[in-house]
Amino acid sequence: MISNRLEELRRRHARAEEGGGAERKERQHREGKLSARERIELLLDEGTFEELDKLVRHRCHNFGMQNNLIEGDGFVTGYGLIHGRLVFVFAQDFTVFGGSLSEANAQKIVKLLDLALKTGAPIIGLNDSGGARIQEGVVSLAGYAEIFLRNTISSGVVPQISAIMGPCAGGAVYSPALTDFVFMVNHTSHMFVTGPDVIKTVTHEDVTKENLGGAMTHNSMSGVAHFLAADDEDCLRSIRELMRFLPQNNLDGVPRQTTEDPENRMDQELDTLIPAESNKPYDIKDVICRVVDDGYFLEVAEHFARNIVIGFARMAGEAIGVVANQPAHLAGCLDIDSSTKGARFVRFCDAFQIPIVTFEDVPGFLPGTAQEFGGIIRHGAKLLYAYAEATVPKITVITRKAYGGAYCVMGSKHLRTDVNFAYPTAEIAVMGPEGAVNILYRRELERSTGSEESRQAKIDEYRDRFANPFVAAERGYIDDVIEPHETRPRVIRALRMLANKTDTMPRKKHGNIPL
Ligand code: HXC
Repeated sequence: MISNRLEELRRRHARAEEGGGAERKERQHREGKLSARERIELLLDEGTFEELDKLVRHRCHNFGMQNNLIEGDGFVTGYGLIHGRLVFVFAQDFTVFGGSLSEANAQKIVKLLDLALKTGAPIIGLNDSGGARIQEGVVSLAGYAEIFLRNTISSGVVPQISAIMGPCAGGAVYSPALTDFVFMVNHTSHMFVTGPDVIKTVTHEDVTKENLGGAMTHNSMSGVAHFLAADDEDCLRSIRELMRFLPQNNLDGVPRQTTEDPENRMDQELDTLIPAESNKPYDIKDVICRVVDDGYFLEVAEHFARNIVIGFARMAGEAIGVVANQPAHLAGCLDIDSSTKGARFVRFCDAFQIPIVTFEDVPGFLPGTAQEFGGIIRHGAKLLYAYAEATVPKITVITRKAYGGAYCVMGSKHLRTDVNFAYPTAEIAVMGPEGAVNILYRRELERSTGSEESRQAKIDEYRDRFANPFVAAERGYIDDVIEPHETRPRVIRALRMLANKTDTMPRKKHGNIPL
């Protein structure tokens, strides 16, 4: 009797491991995709995976499905370790009914999400699925909705990561969209609410799957994805790397990492890196890398809204979130995309207790009808709201321009930023000298005959009077004007001082961020 049971167990386990069979697995490999189990193996620390619900089978009796039962029902779920820390993981197995979501395997994910929340550990989903299991109808849709609910409840409590490693279409895209970070694998992953065929029928547009919902489209145009991976291995390696900067949950800190990089390291090259001419571009990432530990900056969403740079780094071994205007792209102005990109990142850092260091060089908001009609007012307000609401340690370094509303938005003292530094090259004013002079002296300049000379004189006067950091420093809006080479030690000391910072918001159900 016992030996029969053992045999049965082994048979069932083997069926779960076989998935959709050798032929379908071979097809998966031919398409450049790993199998669900291979992916989990690469993602987790070696030999740490504990599988759950390996024996679950679907309960569908439609379309002859009762004769087609595969243990695990196409999702591999369980827990394991990444860098020695607990994570929950699920991987959809495209070889089993196209990785489609059924009532039974949705419950496997629900169980995982509930466990992640109860134990305070991150959850990582490896998506490769044809969407709702067509044979199951509404119970599959119900499964999705149960997952969406838990993604939402867990938001801001445990980090949630999605990797798109195959198709992800229809309503299925909304689970990844609710998570904190979305990875996509180039050429083999696609996300769209409606595919090319439906689009052709409804709007008569011709678009390929790749252009519509490929990895580059979502990394560079829509902003849905935050990381672009070359292949499955690269994707899983990158997720492991990101995990180094994430805490287990909103009450836990990010583990400290020792560094050989001296805390007092000065960098003389910083003194000449920022051009004196206020409209000459430079790469803000050069500044960031010279300031943070070991020159290592893990950029998030590097292909989207490149006029703002966001990502993780460390200072004296402690994780920080960096937000920086990028003068090398669109002069570093704020627009709709950069505002939403920055706002979401600031809110992630705030939710998970990661201090925010801002490098500011911003000429203002991007002018134009496209921006105004697109709602730059409400989108720009998101970034403002996110900074104002954030209670984590906040430090801002103004490297050059800080004009107009953008000065207020980008972690100004008035939004309760804790420590504000400015370089001597900083220009803090309502607007740039040229614009200001054109408005203030328009009539005078129109009358004047030698206008270019007198205009330049006015510009110089304005720059001397307003476009410098000293007016703000005299009022305490800037805590100190620092020399660029001392940025690293000054920021580290400020972060240390703020290590035990607490700040609060009034009691409320939740705010009403302008979405
Ligand atoms: C059941 C499915 C399936 C599905 C694929 N399969 N999608 N089975 N339900 N949703 C099965 C196929 O029958 C096939 O089985 C196997 O998976 C592989 O599929 P292929 O079509 O051969 O693969 P490929 O050519 O690579 O095309 C992949 C695909 C295509 C683009 C994903 O299968 C497809 O268009 N599927 C339907 C996608 C879809 O419309 N889903 C519903 C979306 S709406 P065999 O036995 O031949 O190997 C949705 C609602 C969510 O998900 C709502 C949330 C609110």
